Formats: sequence, C-alpha cells, structure tokens
Amino acid sequence: MNAPIGVIDSGVGGLTVVKELMRRLPNEQFIYIGDTARCPYGPRSSNEVRKFTWQLAESLKTHSIKMLVVACNTATAVALESLQKNCPFPVIGVIFPGARAAIKATKRSEICILGTAGTIKSGAYERALKALSTSCQTVSLACPSFVPLVESGEYEGDFAKEMVAKTLEPLQKEAFDTLILGCTHYPLLQEHIKEVVGPNVTVLSSAEETADDVYETLTYFNIQCNQANAMPHLFYTTGSIPMFRTIIENWLEIPSPIIEQISFK
Ligand code: DGL
Repeated sequence: MNAPIGVIDSGVGGLTVVKELMRRLPNEQFIYIGDTARCPYGPRSSNEVRKFTWQLAESLKTHSIKMLVVACNTATAVALESLQKNCPFPVIGVIFPGARAAIKATKRSEICILGTAGTIKSGAYERALKALSTSCQTVSLACPSFVPLVESGEYEGDFAKEMVAKTLEPLQKEAFDTLILGCTHYPLLQEHIKEVVGPNVTVLSSAEETADDVYETLTYFNIQCNQANAMPHLFYTTGSIPMFRTIIENWLEIPSPIIEQISFK
C-alpha cells in the first residue's frame, strides 16, 4: 500500500525517530509535522498538549496517511490512548517501545528515565516499565533545558556539554545501569549525556524499538509498501524553515528536503 506514514512531534525531536524509520523501512514515504512554533510541549498542561497533538493528527489525516507515529514522548503520555481509540488507522507511540528497549538492556533492573517535565510528571514510563517487569527500580529526572537547547541548533558545542553536565548533577547519587532518553530531542545530546553517566551505563532511545513496532504493524495489517515509494518525504514545520532544514539535512542526510510551513490556531 503506497499511502504515507505520518510522524508528529513538537519540533525537530521526532526526526531522530524518522531517521530509524527510514533505515528500517526504506520503501515507505513519511510525512512529518514539527510544531516548532509551539515547542516545547514539556511545560504545557496535559489538555493543551492533547489539543495540539490532535491538531497535528487531523492535519495529517488530509494526506490519507495509513498509520501515525507519535514521535514525541510528551504527546504520547497524554494523547496516545485517545488517538488509538478514535483514529481510523493504527497509531504508535514511543513510550512503550522505549521501556521495552530498557528492560531488554538492563542487567540490574535499575533504570533511569530522562524526559520533559510533562513526561516525567505523567509517570507513563514507570507504568510501562512496571508492566514489563515488576522488579525494576526507577529514578527519573526532568530536563527542561534540553529541548530549547536542541531547537536552537546549539546541541554540539561546549555550552551544550556544560548545560548537560549541570542538569544531570542530581543523578550522581543514584544507581542505574540503563538510561532511557525519554524525549525524542535527547538523542541529539546523547554524546554529552554518555560522557556524564560513563561507560557502564547503557544509554538508549525508543527509536529502534518504535521502528520495529511500525514494521510489525504494517506487516500485521498488510499495508506495507512492497516497492520503493516514488513519493518524496514531506516535512512541515509551524516555525521557521532554515533551522528545520539544517537539522533535516545534517541528521537525516537528505540533501534537498521538501519543507513547508503550516500553522494551527
Ligand atoms: N520531543 C518531545 C518529547 O519527546 C519534546 C517535548 C517538548 O516539546 O517539550 O517529549
């Protein structure tokens, strides 16, 4: 089936999931919306995040998508259930796949979750982890400065490195062997994060397991695209195009991505 797969996030973070989706599902066409103008979602109320997430999903419906990937943990935490109940296509989030990846990786069942204020407050990762393994111990930390840092494009230099080290200071007294990047923006900071937590901690995101879930779901419903889809990927942002373009070009290695601006009220 040639229809596109929709992917949504509050900004550029979901592109870290798109990267894995493109690798795992090279025949599929993806249509992405990053709600950059209203990013970050992390400090917003659940009702507001739910409303925004639904607006993005409704907009993708007009592209006749065959599946939706909510590539935002904050949106997954508050809107996944209602989207799954009400959309006429399968909807996949990133929290359960991230929890599954952590349970597979941990040796001592001690897992640290980094996320936005909204995701950490929701307790969604703890619930998913406990559903998979009742014995696992968790520690979580909200990192409100990380999303604006990534969205500014300044995620590689010394400033980012210092900001990450400072934010993660409260973890020094905690014990864990696995760390979940529970926000899709954080893989762009993962080298700094790895440096702080050291080589004995496995740092992982939900991208790979999410791509596995998308693959399994496409196969289950027999809606995968069996030959290379001739349609190019499309990228929409509610913010400014240049920064979006730089990150798409660098991170996804797409030379001349098609990017358009959209807006929501
Ligand atoms: N990428 C989003 C997430 O995974 C970032 C949320 C935000 O905009 O604060 O949670």
